[in-house]
Amino acid sequence: MVEPAGVLGSFPHTRLRRLRGSPTLRRLVRQTTLEPADLILPLFVRSGTGVRREISSMPGQYQLSVDTLVDEVGAAWDLGIRAVILFGIPDHKDATGTAALTEPNIVGEAVRAVKRRYPQLIVITDECLCEYTDHGHCGVLRQRADMLEVDNDATLELLGQQAVLHARAGADLVAPSGMMDGMVQAIRHALDAAGFHQVGILSYAAKYASSFYGPFREAAESPPRFGDRTTYQMDPANSDEALREIALDLHEGADIVMVKPALAYLDVIRRAYERFGVPIAAYNVSGEYAMVKAACQKGWLDERKVVLEILTGIRRAGASLILTYHAKEAASWLREA
Ligand code: PBG
Repeated sequence: MVEPAGVLGSFPHTRLRRLRGSPTLRRLVRQTTLEPADLILPLFVRSGTGVRREISSMPGQYQLSVDTLVDEVGAAWDLGIRAVILFGIPDHKDATGTAALTEPNIVGEAVRAVKRRYPQLIVITDECLCEYTDHGHCGVLRQRADMLEVDNDATLELLGQQAVLHARAGADLVAPSGMMDGMVQAIRHALDAAGFHQVGILSYAAKYASSFYGPFREAAESPPRFGDRTTYQMDPANSDEALREIALDLHEGADIVMVKPALAYLDVIRRAYERFGVPIAAYNVSGEYAMVKAACQKGWLDERKVVLEILTGIRRAGASLILTYHAKEAASWLREA
C-alpha cells in the first residue's frame, strides 16, 4: 500500500474522482465483491405439511414444514444461493433435548428431503440444544449449590450425537452454536468415529452474548426460561478473547469459523481475517435483520441500498461467507444489477 502523504507530496494534482466517473469505471476498480453464492440462508423447520407461519419480528421469514421448506430452498437455488443452514423446532421439549438426539428428528428429515431434491446444495445444520430443551439453555443443566448451571462436559456428548444424526441424514457441514468449551473436538471425534470424515465443521467460534438474537428466539421458540446466556456466550466488550476462541476451535478441527453477530463486531471479523488464513463466516443475525425491516417498512431507509451496503461492509471487513435472512432478496437484487 502507498502511503497517502507520499502520494499527495509527489503528485499534488491527484484526483480521486477520476475513477468514480461512470458505473463501468467504478466496477473496474471495485475492491470488494458480493455474490449470491457468498450468502447462506437460515431456515426454520417444524413438523406438519403446508406450514408457512410468518415470524412476527422477522417479516418475510417463516417457520416451514419439510415440504414448504423444500419449495423455499428451490426459490433460493434459482436465485443463485448455494447454501442453507437449518434450525429445528421440535414438537416436544424436555430437560435434555431428546428430540434432537433420536430418530426421526425434524432437522434430519429436512436434510434428507432437501438433499434428495437439490443434491448440489450445501446443507448446514445448527448443533445446539436450546431449541430442544424445555428450559431453553444450550446444554443440559446441573445443580451447583443453590443454582442451576449449564453442564459443559455432559453437553459435549449430546452435541456429538446430534451432529452424527445430521451427518447421517446428509448434512455437508455441522455448525455448533452453543459455545461449550471443547464442542468442536467432541463433534469431530463423534463424526470420525461414525465414519463421517468428509463432513466439515463450521464453528460459531466467537459468538457474543448479544441482545440482537431476540427475534431468532421467537422464530426458534428458544428463549431461556430463566437467566441468560452470559455464562457461555462471550462478553461484547472483548476481542482478544475472540481470537483465542477461534484459535482453539481451529486447533480442535474447525474448518470454517464464525463471528456472530456481524455489525457490532466488524472489528472482530477483521482481526480474525488478518490473523488466520481460514474462511471466516459472519452471521448477520435476526435483530440486525429486524432493525432494517422495521426502518424500511416505515419508509425511513431504502431497503435494497442499505441491505447491499451492509452485506458489502461485512465482506469488506473480511468475511468470505455471510449467513443472512436477507439472502433471497439480496440475491435477486444482485442478479438485476
Ligand atoms: C442457538 C442459536 C441462536 C442463534 C443461532 N443459533 C440463538 C441464541 O444463541 O440464543 C441466533 C441467530 C440469530 O439471532 O439470527 N444457540
